[in-house]
Amino acid sequence: MAKASSWWVLAWHAKPPIDIGPNFSVRVGPFNPEGEVLIPLRTHGKPMRAYVLKHYGGPEGSRLMDIPAPTPRPREILVEVRAAGLNPVDFKFRQGKLRAILRPRLPFVLGNEVAGEAVAVGSEVKRFRAGDHVFARVAKDSGGAFAEQVSVDEDHVAPMPRNLDFTAAAAVPLTGLTALQALRDELGVKPGQKVLISGGAGGVGTFAIQIAKWLGAHVTTTASKRGEALVRALGCDEVIDYTAQDISKAGGRFDAGFDLIGGKTLEQMFEVMKPGAKIVSIAALPEPQTAIKDLGDRRALSALFWIISYGIRSRARRAGIGYRYLFMHPSGSDLAQLAELIEQGTLKVVVDKTYPFAEISEALAYVERGRAKGKVVVTMS
Ligand SMILES: NC(=O)c1ccc[n+]([C@@H]2O[C@H](COP(=O)([O-])OP(=O)(O)OC[C@H]3O[C@@H](n4cnc5c(N)ncnc54)[C@H](OP(=O)(O)O)[C@@H]3O)[C@@H](O)[C@H]2O)c1
Repeated sequence: MAKASSWWVLAWHAKPPIDIGPNFSVRVGPFNPEGEVLIPLRTHGKPMRAYVLKHYGGPEGSRLMDIPAPTPRPREILVEVRAAGLNPVDFKFRQGKLRAILRPRLPFVLGNEVAGEAVAVGSEVKRFRAGDHVFARVAKDSGGAFAEQVSVDEDHVAPMPRNLDFTAAAAVPLTGLTALQALRDELGVKPGQKVLISGGAGGVGTFAIQIAKWLGAHVTTTASKRGEALVRALGCDEVIDYTAQDISKAGGRFDAGFDLIGGKTLEQMFEVMKPGAKIVSIAALPEPQTAIKDLGDRRALSALFWIISYGIRSRARRAGIGYRYLFMHPSGSDLAQLAELIEQGTLKVVVDKTYPFAEISEALAYVERGRAKGKVVVTMS
């Protein structure tokens, strides 16, 4: 049963609670115009609006509703969300496509990246205080960014770049970290290397091009005519129009490949790599290292990934190149590095569209269409 002291008043007129899991119970009461109040058992907060996933499937399984705000644990920061970035993972999660790896109990507040103001900090938080402007990629299995407030582990948070507003800052964490961790850590890109990035015009690609350039690489990307001007403006050296030309016919040999598309695109990338090169994908099939390195040493999952990635790994072995599927991780220190690059002017943030939070369903539908140039963000006003 909920202990939320400020909530017993609401319960006064309400029907008895229905328990629907260890984290939530539901009351039908007078508080919410939609007739429903969710009471997370561990929260004592005031009411807030949140975009809640009630069941996996299409958009009808999620909706905006009022729930109590979270209370930060000792190592957490309570952030008043000013803007939240959207990503393909949000609709994939909503569809239940990540159930093999992430299985939070429903209902669940969606959303993975935020920018906002710290309004309270837990007793063990050392580096942040109320009033700080911060941004974060929240823990993979906790979500919660599509809400007026979210509680985030201190280690996942960094001070916002001083030259960005909340909207642009919210567009950075998930995609910026993914690009940084792939190119710097997994591919170890060195000055003078030739790097091929598939899908350069989207959320990850716009960061990846700039980070590869910052690392000193010669960068080629795939983009349609709709994205060509953008990727060139970000510093890309060569562009392959994927709607007109096969990557494998484009000529050129690459030291490293960062695949954001998967499928046939990845197959074509195998054909243009130098022997000994490596491809990191974030859009094809996970392989055993994904479960060990990125998902907390999950041996059973590693065995499953060994089986499903057998074809791709054999293909890579035949071509004499390495294959890795990266599942990015939240990191406040990596975010601080991105903030520094942004403040120096090395990294620009590309926001395609912004929507008010009330239109988050439309925003997600836009991301799902797969044509975004840069990022899509919802703002709280
Ligand atoms: N594993 C991880 O940790 C991780 C992290 C982040 C993202 N991801 C995944 O990485 C993928 C990319 O994410 P994102 O945020 O960059 O997606 P996004 O922003 O939705 O990408 C949209 C862009 O992709 C371009 N595009 C579509 N099909 C293409 C193709 N065949 N070749 C080249 N470009 C193409 C589109 O350009 P046009 O409209 O011009 O075609 C559009 O500009 C998604 O599958 C996402 O789920 C994985």
